[in-house]
Amino acid sequence: MSRVFSGVQPTGNIHIGNYLGALKQFVDLQNDHECVYCIVDMHAMTVPKSAEELRNSILDVAALYLAIGIDPEKSIVFVQSDVPGHAELGWMLTCNSYTGELSRMTQYKQKSKNKESAPTGLFMYPVLMAADILLYDAALVPVGDDQKQHIELTRDLAIRVNGKYGEDTFVVPEGSYMKSGARVMALDDPTSKMSKSAENEMSRISLMDSPAKIKKAIMRATTDSDGIIRFDIENKPGISNLLSIYSAFSGKTVADLEKEYDGSGYGTLKKDLVEVVVDALTPFQEKYNEIRHSDELIRILQNGAEKANAISEKTIARVKKNLGMGTGAGRKLTF
Ligand code: TYM
Repeated sequence: MSRVFSGVQPTGNIHIGNYLGALKQFVDLQNDHECVYCIVDMHAMTVPKSAEELRNSILDVAALYLAIGIDPEKSIVFVQSDVPGHAELGWMLTCNSYTGELSRMTQYKQKSKNKESAPTGLFMYPVLMAADILLYDAALVPVGDDQKQHIELTRDLAIRVNGKYGEDTFVVPEGSYMKSGARVMALDDPTSKMSKSAENEMSRISLMDSPAKIKKAIMRATTDSDGIIRFDIENKPGISNLLSIYSAFSGKTVADLEKEYDGSGYGTLKKDLVEVVVDALTPFQEKYNEIRHSDELIRILQNGAEKANAISEKTIARVKKNLGMGTGAGRKLTF
């Protein structure tokens, strides 16, 4: 069984973009892959937050993972900083990366725009992400479209290190992207991506939003004035985004939806979409409330960290051996 690895930052406001682009795949892949799902708290530190906020967000995402259907009996669920291998491999990859390639990362460019000096963590973010993936010899990485460039960098680093130190050093991974949902756009501005940090709450639907908030955000979603329900990203980005979301949640194809709503108004489409989204999110919210404050949640994360550590230690031993590092002393590494 090939291994899958992915992660989500504990940064609050996990939204339907995160779900449809990535989390839904996490659940689907569990049945025929060995899946490792991480809460990447070290990545979340690249944007400053209080200790309390970070700790709460970690548990929020852990509870969400389980609520949407990740099964800890099938998949490994853990917190990144509980496994020291991420930081170790991060350094080894840092020494094989170049400032030029990291400066070209669009997420870094966006986040550091107009700043004289940006946090170093933001710059190094994609190298740590590559370490996350390569540490588990993952073949497949389910993510949204916005992570494509980071996955490409991961592949480049793996191929570069393999070329220098031996083809058995790293497994070169592939990204896995959804057909509908790989890029869910903001409801108030369908030309930009739905994001956790946008100021306008109505730009997104968070997985924990109430039916009233979901209704308000969808009914207010920006569309156009020609009144035709048709998928056309270029000329009708708002309606196309609503159709994609509808399709991803309902399993109906966009073509079928176009037929179903031929001649209907935007109001009808939006009203039905509210129902589809509320029906999909309600069971997640019920399960989330059951487990968010349970001791079981902590036990699952501790158990996951043990399993993740066992895989990680093997990779670190192999990579250190190939790179000529250390002696194997200080921990139970067999060279
Ligand atoms: P994060 O926490 O920002 O996002 C989690 C996942 O959600 C996807 N996503 C979207 N998909 C569709 N439409 C959107 N509007 C949308 N917004 C976000 C993201 O692509 C992501 O898959 N760098 C990662 C975290 C990470 C990681 C990793 C992922 C760290 N290490 C190793 C995979 C493997 C991130 O920014 O996630």
